[in-house]
Amino acid sequence: MFNRRLLRHVRYAFQQVRSNHSLQERIDAIPIERYRNFSIVAHVDHGKSTLSDRLLELTNVIKPGGKQVLDKLEVERERGITIKAQTCSMFYQDPRTKLDYLLHLVDTPGHVDFRAEVSRSYASCGGALLLVDASQGVQAQTVANFYLAYSMDLKLIPVINKIDLDIADIDQAEEQVENMFELPKSDCIKVSAKTGLHVEQLLPAIVDRIPPPTGKVEKPLRALLVDSWYDSYLGVVLLVHIVDGQVKRGDKIITAANGLKYEVRECGIMYPDRVATNTLKSGQVGYLVPGMKESKDAKIGDTLMHLGKESITEVLPGFEEPKPMVFVGAFPADGAEFKALDDDISRLVLNDRSVSLQRETSNALGQGWRLGFLGSLHASVFTERLEKEYGSKLILTQPTVPFLIKFKDGEKKIITNPDDFPDLSLRRSNLESLEEPFVEAIMTLPQEYLGKVIQLCDDSHGVQKEITYLNMTGQVMLRYELPLSYLVDDFFGKLKSVSRGYASLDYEDVGYKQSDIVKLELLVNGKSVDALAQVMHRDQTEHIGKEWVKKFKKFIKSQLFEVVIQARANNKIIARETIKAKRKDVLSKLHASDISRRKKLLSKQKQGKKNMKTVGNIQINQDAFQSFLRR
Ligand code: GTP
Repeated sequence: MFNRRLLRHVRYAFQQVRSNHSLQERIDAIPIERYRNFSIVAHVDHGKSTLSDRLLELTNVIKPGGKQVLDKLEVERERGITIKAQTCSMFYQDPRTKLDYLLHLVDTPGHVDFRAEVSRSYASCGGALLLVDASQGVQAQTVANFYLAYSMDLKLIPVINKIDLDIADIDQAEEQVENMFELPKSDCIKVSAKTGLHVEQLLPAIVDRIPPPTGKVEKPLRALLVDSWYDSYLGVVLLVHIVDGQVKRGDKIITAANGLKYEVRECGIMYPDRVATNTLKSGQVGYLVPGMKESKDAKIGDTLMHLGKESITEVLPGFEEPKPMVFVGAFPADGAEFKALDDDISRLVLNDRSVSLQRETSNALGQGWRLGFLGSLHASVFTERLEKEYGSKLILTQPTVPFLIKFKDGEKKIITNPDDFPDLSLRRSNLESLEEPFVEAIMTLPQEYLGKVIQLCDDSHGVQKEITYLNMTGQVMLRYELPLSYLVDDFFGKLKSVSRGYASLDYEDVGYKQSDIVKLELLVNGKSVDALAQVMHRDQTEHIGKEWVKKFKKFIKSQLFEVVIQARANNKIIARETIKAKRKDVLSKLHASDISRRKKLLSKQKQGKKNMKTVGNIQINQDAFQSFLRR
């Protein structure tokens, strides 16, 4: 029995070696002129992942009918969105010439929070399929991603998808592509990623229209670090684009950013999982296992070089690391769980380097963390993963953006926790400016919703920059500058609601700008509840303050004394509610001799107190905060 299992194991290992060997031979026979690195540019849900799967099936990387390959996180599959860019290599024999081509497909995230990942993916590509859903036409992200791809000099192949749908309007989609992007209608390839119709036409188009990489294998090694992930057995795995030179197992490498040295333990391609190869050569996109322990040492955009060749290697331009723009306070729903949650969060952060993490203590919610994310979707995906994959229970504060305070003496402060927003009345004479991050938002929508969308943008302190009528079909494109704080406050949800789901949105950072912002606090018997404080525009404070005190009152049980709930903005009380005193004695109705009942009641009361927090002189159950913070 044991021997048979061992034999099977050996046979499997042998087959692996043999198939890796034939894969290696196949790769070795393909010159760089026959590599094609490409990506798919599209709006969310236009069918990138479905199309990727069809291409992988056509090139025999996967068997037809399996699960989506490139969306790997459980949350991604459930929500049907791509968060982390993945890559996969394919071999394609062109039937016209019988020549083999090595294709590297880099999938890109579809949501704006992950724009940095999109530009990183584009940087290793020579071209992209510009995918447009024929039932929806060009949408905001198609426009934004097109400009990004165009600015990075990518050769674009327009693809009209979902032509199998009854509501598909292929002519309109083609016309929009021609008008918006100056790509001739005749260049469009019409497919159904779902049924596979015409998808095979894409492969020769990729070969013909996308240029090969231009690196030189004889030059010193320059590998661009495109992405990284953490593997519990291998440590940090690096996804690299070999721009020049080649790298193999055992090579000593050094990072340009911080001079860290490693020995390459394994290299290979993603096919669709890791397959080790002898070398990775100029033009290829593949992985390296350098024996790196800390994810933070993998600086995305870094150049990896051969140790000893640093002086003759020109470092690649690289990318800017994305900065967290949305912060939330996170606290365990049960204070006793802090240690376990701390371990879970640290483990998850290992695989998501764009999350920032800091310990924090709140008078209302106890020990917790301040987490920084790229955007609100990123925040919700991360917390959902914590709950789903680790079973963690969290109380989350309202998301906030970072605020910048400049003082006349040159001091600058970035505030990521609203409770730290200083009492400006004390330093007014030294205050230079209060600033917050702004974005430029692109929206596309049918003309009939224009009035309502403009109203929404105006109410959100937006400044109109452009309004363009896309074509005769009544689509409009709007460009607005908006404070990020409004975008984080469910702007997308509001936009969808005023446009009955027809509007689409994309945005990009435009830096900090001056704003009239103040801190709004909730006070309980004169004491501020730190975890609930928020920084907002002055003109929002009055109605939000009133809403807060009314809502919070509902969650506070009557006490033996009067409880006053107030909202304070910029040191002025702007709203107030009072809860009248009520006498409640759990023992009052008992006879003095009923000792066991008395003990039981007292212990029950003690148990209840465990989840209580003291704010001012009153005790508030954690549930009250949880209910208050829930929308
Ligand atoms: P993100 O990963 O979030 O960017 O989405 P995506 O662009 O990868 O879209 P995905 O491939 O997940 O497809 C979105 C939805 O459209 C899924 O329900 C697909 O089954 C469906 N879909 C994709 N292509 C076609 C098509 O050609 N025809 C039809 N009818 N449905 C399609």
